Amino acid sequence: MTTSSTRFGVIGTGRITRRLVADLQSTDGAVVTAIASRSRERARWYGDQYGIDAAVEGYAELLKRDDVDAVYISLPPSMHAEWAIAAANHGKHVLCEKPLTVSVAQTRQVDLACQAAGVRWLDATGWLHHDRTDAFATWLGEGRFGKIGHVSAAVSFYQPFQSGDHRLDASLGGGCILDLGWYAGGLVRFAMGRMPAWVLADEVILDGVSQRLTAMMGFDDGATATISCGYDTATRKWFEVAGTESSLICDDFTRPWADRPARYWIHDAAGTVKSESFDGHQERNMIKRLISDEPLLRYQQQAIDTQAIVEAVQASIKAGGTKFVLSTMTD
Ligand SMILES: NC(=O)c1ccc[n+]([C@@H]2O[C@H](COP(=O)([O-])OP(=O)(O)OC[C@H]3O[C@@H](n4cnc5c(N)ncnc54)[C@H](OP(=O)(O)O)[C@@H]3O)[C@@H](O)[C@H]2O)c1
Repeated sequence: MTTSSTRFGVIGTGRITRRLVADLQSTDGAVVTAIASRSRERARWYGDQYGIDAAVEGYAELLKRDDVDAVYISLPPSMHAEWAIAAANHGKHVLCEKPLTVSVAQTRQVDLACQAAGVRWLDATGWLHHDRTDAFATWLGEGRFGKIGHVSAAVSFYQPFQSGDHRLDASLGGGCILDLGWYAGGLVRFAMGRMPAWVLADEVILDGVSQRLTAMMGFDDGATATISCGYDTATRKWFEVAGTESSLICDDFTRPWADRPARYWIHDAAGTVKSESFDGHQERNMIKRLISDEPLLRYQQQAIDTQAIVEAVQASIKAGGTKFVLSTMTD
């Protein structure tokens, strides 16, 4: 991307911003030069908190700055496409929080805008960039677990929301389908290396937004997958990939538990268990990847496919919990 440090501008001052700003500031080759909020005071307060020189009122103003090469977008999901496309049109590289957008059509528009502008983009789905995930990808590619018959993933947390949380506002892209289904659906796509043929889903809604999602998926070769996501059970971030030879199990795939290294287990038919842990920093790896010259196509395709799985989940629910066949998708 560039030989000197890539200068990031941050758009939004939400809860996740603090963590990603620290990750940007601790990644070789990245610096944070500006932060934008809807409010000048809020931008200034966060700028002071995070040690960022330029505090900017309004996201559009940040995009005009010459001291910004790339943006990190941490807005509610319904605003991602608009600001990712605007950033690309200003020649800025884009690191956008998950879910990348709220529809396949919007995700394609982001991809096209970045291609047209010649800028790089990634969604900030950190787990895809952990060294452990690279090992999983290698083993899955080698067929180490035999033929995969089933994948299951569960992502949830139980937390009283603060009033005004975008997760409770459908118009901002709230609800657990986009928020947590992004991780679980993406894990299925990653583990199988291809798209499901059909999706069958149901949800529990509270105050207009999805609180719990349960979905089943099927593949052309007969393999299946199940995902469970929700705001109504204690934290889960785990998966099982079940093959004819053994199963790969992980209980912290979205982000390693704070006090432990990243880990996994392989169980075989004889009950033998292999377990190992990994060091590494997924967000720093992700940032390094964005600011390098490494091809990003496989991560971008993973994001586009994940968006399609999430949309198929929504389509199945909308159709009253009937099977949605992905080949009927128009976008
Ligand atoms: N990668 C991860 O591990 C991870 C973890 C948590 C969240 N996320 C994702 O990161 C994104 C932001 O999540 P968050 O929890 O940080 O969100 P948040 O705390 O609700 O913050 C969102 C920010 O967006 C701006 N905003 C602009 N218009 C808004 C509106 N109408 N309502 C609310 N906020 C508005 C606000 O910044 P200003 O007022 O300063 O303009 C606000 O601080 C989401 O897409 C979420 O899924 C990712």
